Parts: sequence; structure tokens; C-alpha cells
Amino acid sequence: MSKVKVRVVVKLGKDLAKKELHVINRVRRVEFSEFESSKQPIDPKPKAQTWDEIFILVKDSDNRLLAFARLRNIEVEFMDNSYAIFGIATVASVIKGQGYGGILMEKVKEFIVQSRKTAVGFCDYKTSPFYEKCEFEIIRKGSIRFIPRTLDGELVLDGIVDDVFSLQGEDRLIDKIIRSPKENVFIPGARW
Ligand SMILES: CC(C)(COP(=O)(O)OP(=O)(O)OC[C@H]1O[C@@H](n2cnc3c(N)ncnc32)[C@H](O)[C@@H]1OP(=O)(O)O)[C@@H](O)C(=O)NCCC(=O)NCCS
Repeated sequence: MSKVKVRVVVKLGKDLAKKELHVINRVRRVEFSEFESSKQPIDPKPKAQTWDEIFILVKDSDNRLLAFARLRNIEVEFMDNSYAIFGIATVASVIKGQGYGGILMEKVKEFIVQSRKTAVGFCDYKTSPFYEKCEFEIIRKGSIRFIPRTLDGELVLDGIVDDVFSLQGEDRLIDKIIRSPKENVFIPGARW
């Protein structure tokens, strides 16, 4: 565990410094290389989704970025009802195994709990134990029930089977999803 003094900063995409974006995009390219989207740098512009997404940053006293995550406001549909949730994405430590990921997820959790919203992210089954340790609820192979749907109603099946890590909000959406295992959750366009 690192003895480095850290602080956690929450900012919108539009307020990210060039240096922060540079590190985020460098780490994304390496850690998420299996996803096409990682090749496209995060470049917040007024019409881009990342402009008003929430970025949670762990930094050291020299302002160096140690770990980061992103939260997107998303509207999903389950059993003909709409739910406004957070999509959790781009969770990464710049230096691993030093406790920065754990510190990051503590703040992510605090932020989500305060919002009272449900939050959902997708992860490889090998990473689920990390989220479990951080007290997120895991739905094994849950991604097969989260179906991307375009505005035209077309379903986009990406074929990637991942676990879902989640936090229950006051809408109790995660309980509802678990109680009705034959029903799918429709998500807008693509995974976040
Ligand atoms: C997953 C990741 C964010 C963890 O960050 P980290 O800074 O290495 O994690 P920490 O050092 O804070 O570890 C916190 C705890 O989780 C455990 N842990 C970390 N990664 C783990 C993993 N993959 N599986 C099981 N446990 C894990 C640690 O052992 C530690 O446990 P402890 O508190 O009992 O000592 C980091 O490994 C990473 O950036 N991975 C690449 C990107 C990625 O896969 N992100 C997730 C996308 S869904």
C-alpha cells in the first residue's frame, strides 16, 4: 500500500486540464485496447457526451493523476419503465497495486450514494473481485441482459459477455433486474 498523500477531485469533462486528458487517454489506449472506442481519445467538446460527464480523479500532492473513473447520466428501460442511472466507465489506476483504485472507488461510491441513483458498469470476470472488494454488487455474465438499442429501435448485439458491477439506488432497479431474470434492460446506443 502506498504512503503517498492523495486527494480526490471531481470535475466535469469540460473542466479537465490538457495534462489530465493526456494521461487518461494514454492509459485508456493501453488498458482498454480491446475496445474500438479506446482508440478515439476523450476530447470534451460542447456537443460531445464527455463534455458534461463526471470524472473522478485521484491525484498526488504534485497534482499527478494516479487513478480515474467516469460517470455518465443514462436513461435505461426495463419492463416498459425508464430509469435515470449512472453508467460507470473508464475505471483505471495509472500505477496498480498501490491502493489508488480502492481510494478511487470509495469516492465513486460516495458520489453515487449521495445521488441516490442506481449505477452500473461492465467488467471482465477477472476484474469482478476488485469491484466486490469495493462493495459493488456483481451480476455474473450480466451484460447479456443489457441490450444496446438505437433511437430507431434497432438492437445492437455486441456479443461480448461481461460481468455487471452495480450499486443499488432508491429506484431498486438492481433488485428488479435480479428478480426478473428473463427480462432485458435496454440501454441507449452502445455500452458507455
Ligand atoms: C482494476 C484496477 C482499477 C485496480 O486498481 P488498483 O489501484 O490496482 O487497485 P488497489 O491497489 O487499490 O487494490 C484494492 C484492492 O483490490 C484488490 N484488487 C485489485 N485488482 C484486483 C483484481 N483484478 N482482482 C482481485 N482483486 C483485485 C487488491 O488486492 C486490493 O485488495 P486489498 O485491499 O485486500 O489489499 C487496476 O488494476 C486497473 O487499472 N486495471 C486495468 C484497467 C481495468 O481493467 N479497469 C477496470 C475496467 S472495468
